Amino acid sequence: MSTPNRQLVLHSRPKGLLAPGDLQRKEVSVPELKDGQALAGVKYLSIDPTMRVWMAVDSYLPAVAIGEVMRAFGFAEITESRHPDYNKGDRVTGPTGLQDYVVLDASTSRSFQRVPKIPFVSDTVFLGVLGINGLTAFFGMEIAKPKKGETLVVSAAAGATGSIVGQIGKIHGCRVVGIAGSDEKCNWITKDLGFDAAINYKQPDWKAKLAAAVPKGIDIDFENVGGEIMETIFGLMNLHGRVALCGLISGYTKGNPAMASLGTVLVKRLRVEGFIVLDYASRFTEAATQLGQWKMFGRIKDRETIVEGLEKAPDAINMLFTGGNIGKLIVKV
Ligand SMILES: NC(=O)c1ccc[n+]([C@@H]2O[C@H](COP(=O)([O-])OP(=O)(O)OC[C@H]3O[C@@H](n4cnc5c(N)ncnc54)[C@H](OP(=O)(O)O)[C@@H]3O)[C@@H](O)[C@H]2O)c1
Repeated sequence: MSTPNRQLVLHSRPKGLLAPGDLQRKEVSVPELKDGQALAGVKYLSIDPTMRVWMAVDSYLPAVAIGEVMRAFGFAEITESRHPDYNKGDRVTGPTGLQDYVVLDASTSRSFQRVPKIPFVSDTVFLGVLGINGLTAFFGMEIAKPKKGETLVVSAAAGATGSIVGQIGKIHGCRVVGIAGSDEKCNWITKDLGFDAAINYKQPDWKAKLAAAVPKGIDIDFENVGGEIMETIFGLMNLHGRVALCGLISGYTKGNPAMASLGTVLVKRLRVEGFIVLDYASRFTEAATQLGQWKMFGRIKDRETIVEGLEKAPDAINMLFTGGNIGKLIVKV
């Protein structure tokens, strides 16, 4: 008897937040495996802001085509194998797509990373602190070149990437200020993660509070949001400050990522470097080893928001844009 594979396929390009029906459910049968193929059951899906970009426009990857399974990273376990490199029970992370099963073959398996089974370590860390978000924080902080005593500001600070960025900043001896959208998030990053200060940007006086929290100005902006938040940070930057331009989430549902003034970049001689974590793939193992050590010794703490059920993935994507997640957002398939 054939095994059903539920898939969420892109039906229409969203305008604003995802509307019901932008992703539509389809059910196909898992194909009969050929020599050189392995079948992996998807257990967890990483829900990332860039998915909203992939649904709309060509960017660093081409837009997902209408009718295609929605692109997503996930954690999967091999259930059946005729592939020389995989055995039943092996675990991988990679571009599984929003579906129950994915076939790995010669053309796709290079995009997947094998992940070890480590006692007392949950599978989901390979999508968060030891996955794309930890790696993004790690390589973005390399670009930022933090020095002891400098002031680092990170936006979307209670999210998957921002929460790790701030903790790496503390490891380097920086004064770390986070910007986040609720008092609960601000309390988490200051009380549990050791940020020096947190600013709730939904409070009317947040700009004055940010200025007061950076008495020596800002040396590093780890930018996740763009728009008014980036404009405000740029206004407080010190001469020769550095900006690790990681994301511009405030623009993803508006189709027009708002930019800070290039005049400020010029007058303050800022060094602004955009980066995409996938460019660092050859160094993922090195970075994950360091992140794993920091996690093991309690120097980096992480938190997850888990949504149950593949069919909830569209709502989960929207949560990223309404601030519904704390830490890494994951769908448990
Ligand atoms: N360059 C790369 O290779 C790379 C890789 C991964 C991620 N990224 C980028 O990193 C950023 C964070 O991604 P993530 O995966 O770690 O997601 P995340 O921070 O876990 O979740 C997104 C958070 O952004 C905040 N947000 C959403 N809309 C906002 C707005 N209009 N203004 C201010 N804050 C807003 C929300 O928190 P609040 O409650 O605080 O508003 C939300 O929880 C994104 O820009 C993403 O595109 C880049």
